[in-house]
Amino acid sequence: PVGLSQAAKAAGKLYFGSATDNYHLTDGPYISILSDQLQFNQITPGNSMKWDATEPRRGVFNFAGGDEIVAFARKSNQLVRGHTCVWHSQLAPWVTQGNFDNSTLQQIVKDHTTAVVSHWKGQMYAWDVVNEIFNEDGTFRQSVFLDTIGPSYVEVAFRAAREADPSAKLYLNDYNIDGLGAKSTGVVNLVRSLKSSNVPIDGIGLQAHLIVGSLPPNIQENLEQFTNLGVEVAITELDIRMTLPVTPEKLEQQRKDYASVIGACNAVKGCVGVTIWDFTDKYSWIPSVFAGEGVALPWDENLERKPAYDGIIQGFTGQ
Ligand code: G3I
Repeated sequence: PVGLSQAAKAAGKLYFGSATDNYHLTDGPYISILSDQLQFNQITPGNSMKWDATEPRRGVFNFAGGDEIVAFARKSNQLVRGHTCVWHSQLAPWVTQGNFDNSTLQQIVKDHTTAVVSHWKGQMYAWDVVNEIFNEDGTFRQSVFLDTIGPSYVEVAFRAAREADPSAKLYLNDYNIDGLGAKSTGVVNLVRSLKSSNVPIDGIGLQAHLIVGSLPPNIQENLEQFTNLGVEVAITELDIRMTLPVTPEKLEQQRKDYASVIGACNAVKGCVGVTIWDFTDKYSWIPSVFAGEGVALPWDENLERKPAYDGIIQGFTGQ
């Protein structure tokens, strides 16, 4: 049977990939699946390129975790998506508690983005330069960056990232921007204004952390409204969770839901690829955050494929 990245590439997409984390890389059966290029030709580090990992103290950088995952990906000719330069969460405490003034914090954002993006210069397909910067109503989410610098912190990060690695595609990434709605409209308005000020932005990442049986309607139209801005789009953190216990009916619905999300990307030329947020229920973030929910990925916790696997193939092949 065809592999997931084979199906994606046959459909004209750049990649199908998975997030992973350093502590998974000693799990033999796990990495024999993750390193199979026929399944995954793109990898995203789930944690080791975030600010708390890469710059734990001001001017002190630690790239070891990211290096390990980049080396793993390169061994299997897998593209890498960098995640993420500027985010309010998993942010090193010295930044949130630093009480910096506007120009100092701008310099800190510039220095951090420059150091991280230059470290992996030429090795990254894309960077999530900023992550989760909107509220559900499309206004800017409160953060130390917004409070101290204002909305222009976004531009500061993108300009620094482009300067540091012109070869990387620069993305804005968020959740709950999968269908039409106020948050997606916030994204449209910001990207339009960034573009008109010649701020270097190349893509919009839709995290797509979704729920079985209640996908947002109009995912395809939303992808199209984003690509109409002159950027590419990617589904960057796909998982489709269900309320336990697992039943055959829920697994079948999950297959259908994966098929329709992948189908939406497949139908939109500027949707370049799909990344799932790890590939097996064994390592999913969901049970630790959403009690009583989980089973969100195409391989189960015993590394056996689920019907969702076939749904992904169907989404790319149309059958
Ligand atoms: O590394 C420490 C370890 O030293 C410690 O013993 C352990 C117990 O406290 O925590 C470990 O850190 C955990 C980290 O993952 C690494 O495993 C954190 O507690 C835990 O909160 C963190 O969760 C990550 C989560 O982001 C935090 O927001 C998940 O792994 C990661 O998959 C998840 O990914 C995010 C994306 O970055 C953005 N979109 C949403 C997505 C899901 O939350």
